[in-house]
Amino acid sequence: MYKYEAKQFESVSGMEGFSERMMQEHYKLYEGYIKKANEIQEKLKTVDASTANATQSDLRSLKLGLSFAVDAIKSHELYFSHLGGKSVTPLDGISKLINKSFGSFDAWLNDMKQTGIAARGWVWSAYDWDSGELMNVLGDGHDAFPIWNATPIVALDVYEHAYFIDYGVNRKDYIETFFKNINWDVVEKRITDHKITIN
Ligand SMILES: [Fe+2]
Repeated sequence: MYKYEAKQFESVSGMEGFSERMMQEHYKLYEGYIKKANEIQEKLKTVDASTANATQSDLRSLKLGLSFAVDAIKSHELYFSHLGGKSVTPLDGISKLINKSFGSFDAWLNDMKQTGIAARGWVWSAYDWDSGELMNVLGDGHDAFPIWNATPIVALDVYEHAYFIDYGVNRKDYIETFFKNINWDVVEKRITDHKITIN
């Protein structure tokens, strides 16, 4: 069974507008999801599956918890790894993909920001392998996987824990700062690593 391990993200240190304390607290939550995912995997080895029930059962609780923990791990790895950038504009591949999908960078950015205000958990800009375009997808909970056959390229965490220490309830300013700190080299690498071709 796969064992989850916390990754290190040095780039999240020394960002403008995001304090060390806020990032450390956020990282502690990520470590908590890692610990929980492994703990649930262990419990699943011995759970009494014969009592499975859709209203309430040990198997149901564990499976829901596992979805929550694993999505939290994956989303936070996407999030932390593309923070700490200094470039202000997207590079060639992601730029073409954004233009193809939204018409312009400003239209995409505006949609990401507004969706961030409308969400309770996450916004992912994901490449849909069926349409060949980016979709900005809203997800309220870590256990709500919103779309299949799509690969998230940009992940914006809008859970309160992501910004409350530095921004209080001012989510709008947090989102602005997130986009100032995005690392477009990392975003571009996701396009090439996944061999996304833009026509
Ligand atoms: Fe988070």
